[in-house]
Amino acid sequence: MKSKVASSNDKQLGGVTRRDFVKFCTGVAASMGLPLTVAPKMAEAITSPQRPPVIWLSGQECTGCVESLLRTNHPTIDSLIFDLISLEYSETLNAGAGHQAEHHRALSIEANKGKFILVVDGAIPVKDGGVYCQIAGKPVLDILNETAPLAAAVIAIGSCAAWGGVPAADPNPTGATPVHEILKDKGIPVVNIPGCPPNPYNFLSTVIHFVTFNKLPALDDKMRPKFAYARRIHENCERRPHFDAGRFAEEFGDEGHRKGYCLYKLGCKGPETFNNCSTLHFGDVSSTGCWPVGSGAPCFGCSEAGVGFNSPLFSKARVSFPTPPLQFTEAVPEKGSGAKSFAYGVAGAAVGATAVALANTRGKEED
Ligand code: SF4
Ligand code: SF4
Ligand code: F3S
Repeated sequence: MKSKVASSNDKQLGGVTRRDFVKFCTGVAASMGLPLTVAPKMAEAITSPQRPPVIWLSGQECTGCVESLLRTNHPTIDSLIFDLISLEYSETLNAGAGHQAEHHRALSIEANKGKFILVVDGAIPVKDGGVYCQIAGKPVLDILNETAPLAAAVIAIGSCAAWGGVPAADPNPTGATPVHEILKDKGIPVVNIPGCPPNPYNFLSTVIHFVTFNKLPALDDKMRPKFAYARRIHENCERRPHFDAGRFAEEFGDEGHRKGYCLYKLGCKGPETFNNCSTLHFGDVSSTGCWPVGSGAPCFGCSEAGVGFNSPLFSKARVSFPTPPLQFTEAVPEKGSGAKSFAYGVAGAAVGATAVALANTRGKEED
């Protein structure tokens, strides 16, 4: 007869077993380029009773970044909030409101000084003393300036917090400013997880890395985690073989568009946008191409500073690496063709340069 006592490996965590967490952490470790052997250590850290306190501040935002986190299934938002982190304050997810919530924020900051993770979504308006975004009658600018020096780490989630995003788009009437710009004079480093919204697993992986190793993952020169933002979308795009073969959708809904051809001529900014959207899809349905390009919409560079919300939607992107990579992902096959990407690649090597020549309406290639 089987024991009714769950083993420690099967300990329940808000409906998710520790074993499932180990599986989840194995995926996290793989996506971060860490040895898979760290997965049990990660699981141990995130299932520890000492959950990292998180204070989540919101500036000029649309709630999309929080919504994106709410859509995670591994872990679900309830296990995330109740087991993985200790979400002390979030204007969107707080059970309490008004003075009660503000009082709890103050108490929690005091009790967790130097230990909590400060997450900020949304840009911070600085014009006119920051009056254009206030929480409980206080500019979020002041709240950020008071709170950040007390945090163990600051994470700017979403392109609004990382680069200014939508609120900072021309003419930026409120002086919307990225979080790192506000804090740079204080010498406080800010991790940027850009995207509109970002993939929630890039955020979760960053938090898990911090909780497990007590330090942030390796960052690039724009303070983005390298595990997620080291490569251009174009490098691993499933439509890349079509780009290399010079096969483009010319109009939305035309034959090329329906066949899954490259969206470059429709304004795709994948060639100048650093993100892992082409390899880590959205909505926990990764095998079904749930990401902009996978569903036929050109990438508009939502996560790239100076691209999303800055470049015209249908302008052609600069292409930095016109030649095909050595190894291809398989192309979205034409119906009935069965053609393999290798064939596209051989043919494409000759036409890639042509594609670039027609591409550069905005300037010459980098690199
Ligand atoms: Fe909304 Fe996008 Fe800004 Fe996130 S980054 S708050 S999803 S506009
Ligand atoms: Fe993919 Fe866009 Fe690059 Fe075409 S231009 S291969 S659709 S990322
Ligand atoms: Fe954004 Fe482009 Fe990825 S629009 S979600 S960076 S594919």
